Amino acid sequence: MEATSFSSSDPATRYGEARSQLQALCDPSEDLISNLANATALLRDCIPAASWVGFYVRRGAELVLGPFQGKVACTRIPLGRGVCGAAASSQQTVVVPDVEQFPGHIACDSGSRSEIVVPIVRAGQVVAVLDVDSYELAAFGEVDARGLGALAEVMASWAW
Ligand code: SME
Repeated sequence: MEATSFSSSDPATRYGEARSQLQALCDPSEDLISNLANATALLRDCIPAASWVGFYVRRGAELVLGPFQGKVACTRIPLGRGVCGAAASSQQTVVVPDVEQFPGHIACDSGSRSEIVVPIVRAGQVVAVLDVDSYELAAFGEVDARGLGALAEVMASWAW
């Protein structure tokens, strides 16, 4: 098992490297929990501004906390609630530059200032969302949406 490493400080380059490392690290037929857990470690290394990286997995009409790195978090989010629920119900990536301006934001960590949530869509259904939070305002933008979106496409092939 190789440690993850990134050769550049450029975010787009780092996301490209993360995609290659994710494919090398996570066999789609491996147990889902192991792949999700390793993905959180990889992404925390990849995204220096991240205070929290993790998954909420869809269980019926709710999202349930999955593997993550960061402070403890709320365990269940109804579809449509908070940033995670909005991303899941719209099947769209949601970038929130200032969480205080997002109606219904669920504050698990009062230090969190901005976030991005990317849905993982398999056969037209949301199976999970990938949530990345930051203590910095406006930490995420278009480059992150594209980079994490490409990673979510890889993750969609896992054993959901
Ligand atoms: N920010 C999320 C809640 C989950 S925590 O940030 C880990 C939301 O409003 O959906």
